[in-house]
Amino acid sequence: MSGTRETTPRAPAPETASPVPVASGRWPGLGHAAALARHRLGYLQSLRAEGDAVRVYLGRRPVHLLNSPDLIRRLLAADSSGSLDKGRFFDKMRPVLGDGILTCRSAAHKVQRPLVQPAFHQERIRRYVRIMASEAAATSGGWTAGAVVWVDREMHDLALRIVTRSLFSSDVGVRAAEECFRLFPLVSAGVARRTLSPVTWWERVPTPGNRRFDAAVARLHQVIDEVVSAYRTDGRDHGDLLSMLLAARDEDSGAGLSDAQLRDEALTIMGAGTETTSVSLSWLFYELDRHPEIRERVEAEVDAVHADGEDLGFEHVRQLPYTQQVVSETLRLHAPIWLLMRRAAEPLDLGGGVRLTPGDEVLFSPTALHRDPALHADPLRFDPDRWSPERRNGVDRAAYLPFGAGSRRCIGDVFARTEMTVITAAVVRRWRLTAPPGLTVREVASGSLEPDALPMTARPRD
Ligand code: HEM
Repeated sequence: MSGTRETTPRAPAPETASPVPVASGRWPGLGHAAALARHRLGYLQSLRAEGDAVRVYLGRRPVHLLNSPDLIRRLLAADSSGSLDKGRFFDKMRPVLGDGILTCRSAAHKVQRPLVQPAFHQERIRRYVRIMASEAAATSGGWTAGAVVWVDREMHDLALRIVTRSLFSSDVGVRAAEECFRLFPLVSAGVARRTLSPVTWWERVPTPGNRRFDAAVARLHQVIDEVVSAYRTDGRDHGDLLSMLLAARDEDSGAGLSDAQLRDEALTIMGAGTETTSVSLSWLFYELDRHPEIRERVEAEVDAVHADGEDLGFEHVRQLPYTQQVVSETLRLHAPIWLLMRRAAEPLDLGGGVRLTPGDEVLFSPTALHRDPALHADPLRFDPDRWSPERRNGVDRAAYLPFGAGSRRCIGDVFARTEMTVITAAVVRRWRLTAPPGLTVREVASGSLEPDALPMTARPRD
């Protein structure tokens, strides 16, 4: 798409130019990079006490870190006016995801998002639920009583299978989905490494790791291009996400997505829809094990809905309100997207002294917001009843951002919530997952906020 502006980080502003205070923990030459590298989320969390906004130096470059829900809301509202780009994390994803809606610049987003949106309408999600339920039944059906299940890995594979099968459900698509399933973990691990790395020159050095990464990206692109071409020739609606993307037409011009755009959107959906959901599910099973009273309520609800023993359908999901509360609470306490950013494309005054000039970058942490005692009572307590019909209106929605907000809010939010509910029900129906006594699970803030490892024993419910 043309007509978009490229902005790059500028030279640092003079110390006196901004009334926004510089965060504590700055080291000469290193800025705040050392503190951030050591504690990542913990450090961001600690900076909440230093004001609604602080300036953080990543090396010599200042970045604004927003702590107040109000400032974050104003920032995200500017997404729709074209005043923002997505920033350097997203620049790092672009060589793989291209100009899909997650990474593309504002002008392109205005055109592309309405084309992708219909693929996520409720009617389509109804179809994807069948895939979610059958894949969840296949995964949990493969467990044996007393066996150790590496929940983090199982959930990753399951989420990837669901998203690839939802994208490509035809015969030719299923073969491609298998290959994507093989290639994607290599690619996504490489992207996560590159996104957080402060240096870019290393990516161009032909190390064996970089060569493997480049080859996997090239093959992934080729596989998707082949499916797109086969779908175009065939011309049928396969009821999957790719068929919807192919059928999409711009209301004014009647134009559809080009082959390259279709590939970028397919990869974007795979990239954005796998780890986020799988990491959240791992935390969900971890919390159910730690709270037997919550687990029993979920079990009772699932048993009542599942009385006929059939796979779960779309109608069943609505009959699981408590399980959905557990999903909402998991996404609060363990929001997988722990850091988001934007870059000003034009001058922007957010208020509170935060005045951005083109190229200025802004960070905020949904997870730190969700754990702030000033915004959520007893924030470290896993309490799904915060989301009960009686209490949910008391939650400040501006302080709950697992899916972001504004025009770039997650397009897969309903897909993800439905998927998490369906998988929880499929597992809970047959199994109790219990962690070994004394297991300490560490939070790792990398591409997402994930458990370092989560081995659990599968015990049959009956
Ligand atoms: C628990 C699971 C998920 C979480 C927590 C999550 C979170 C997010 C967040 C925070 C954003 C906004 C990024 C920003 O503002 O810069 C986003 C965007 C996006 N997500 Fe998700 N996501 C999840 C699942 C999914 C799924 C399942 C899909 C697709 C099947 C998906 C597709 C996307 C896409 C395409 C975007 C870009 C939207 C745009 O810019 O218009 N996500 N997601």
